[in-house]
Amino acid sequence: MQDAPDTLTLGAQDVAQAAALLRAGKLVAFPTETVYGLGADAADGAAVARVYAAKGRPSFNPLIVHVASLADAEKLAVFDDTARALAQAFWPGPLSIVVPLRDGHGLASLVTAGLDTVAIRVPAQPLAHSLLVAVARPVAAPSANPSGEISPTTARHVLDGLRGRIDAVLDGEACEVGLESTIVSTAPLRLLRPGGLPAEALEAALGGHLQPHADPDAPNAPGQLVSHYAPQARVALNRTDGRFLLGFGKVEGQMNLSPSGDLHEAAANLFAMLREMDALAGATGTIAVAPIPTVGLGLAINDRLNRAAAPRG
Ligand code: TXA
Ligand code: MG
Repeated sequence: MQDAPDTLTLGAQDVAQAAALLRAGKLVAFPTETVYGLGADAADGAAVARVYAAKGRPSFNPLIVHVASLADAEKLAVFDDTARALAQAFWPGPLSIVVPLRDGHGLASLVTAGLDTVAIRVPAQPLAHSLLVAVARPVAAPSANPSGEISPTTARHVLDGLRGRIDAVLDGEACEVGLESTIVSTAPLRLLRPGGLPAEALEAALGGHLQPHADPDAPNAPGQLVSHYAPQARVALNRTDGRFLLGFGKVEGQMNLSPSGDLHEAAANLFAMLREMDALAGATGTIAVAPIPTVGLGLAINDRLNRAAAPRG
C-alpha cells in the first residue's frame, strides 16, 4: 500500500475529530471493552464497502452495528419482549443482539449482507460511548484486524494489521474483556457466538437454557468460519508441555494467561499473548496451549482457541 496515506493516531481529546471523520465516510478504528472495532458510517454504503476491502473480508459476512443506546437501536430494528429484556439487562456491555430490521432503517445493505436481521450492540467502553454520541449515527464495526487473523485488543495491534489501509485509530486503553461480544438472536432464541458475556449470565436473566445455534458455520452466523484468529504458527490445544507453551493456572508455560486460573484475566490476555507467542514461535513453530475449563468465559476462550487451531482453509 505504497500510495496509501498513513493512518492517524487519535487520543481521547480527539473524539470530535474521529466522529467528523466517520461522518465524512472515513474508516476509524476505536476501542470497545471487547476488542477494537473498525468503524464506518453504517448508512454509507461506500464507506462500508471500504471496511470489507480493508479487512479482506468475504462480503457475505454481515457486520455488527454500534449505537449509543437502546432507544437508538429501536430506530433500526424491532425488539420483542425478550430482546428488550436482554438489552435492558446487559447494555451497555459485551452483548450483540440479532433482531429484525425495521422498515426505513436506513442502513446500507452491505452491513447486513442482505439479511432481514441486524446484529446491534451498545458498547460500555467510555471512549466508544463518547464517539457514538458524537457521531450520532449508527456505526458498523467488525473487529479491526485483517480477516481471519487475531482480533486486536490495543491500538498497536490495529496498526500492525491495518496501517495505511484505514484513516485513523482512536487510541484507548487495552480492551478490558478481550473477547468479542456474545451474539444472541431472539426469534428464535439462540446463542450464535459465545463471547465476552458468559452464557450463564444470559441464562440466569432468561430463566432457562440458551440453545446454541446448531451449526455455527451455517448462514445464520455467517462469520463463524472454522479457521479464524489464526496466528502464523500452528496451535496445539490441551497441552501441558511444549517449547512454546501458553500456560493457564498451574500449567506454567513461557507466558501464562492467568497464573491464578482466573478466566476474566485469561480472556483479557488471550489475543495479546497469542500474538506474542506467535512472534516467538514463528511460521514453523507450534504454540501449545494449556487446558482451559469450558465454564463462564472459558466457553468463548475455547471457541477462539479451537478456531486458531483449526486447519487453515
Ligand atoms: O465485540 C464485538 O462483537 C466486536 C466489536 C468491534 O464490537 N465486533 C465483532 O465483529 O466481533 P465481527 O464482524 O468480527 O463479528 C461479527 C459477527 C459475525 O460472526 C457475523 O456473522 C455476525 O456477527 N452477524 C452479524 N450480523 C448478523 C446477523 N444479522 N445474523 C447473524 N449473525 C450476524
Ligand atoms: Mg472478527
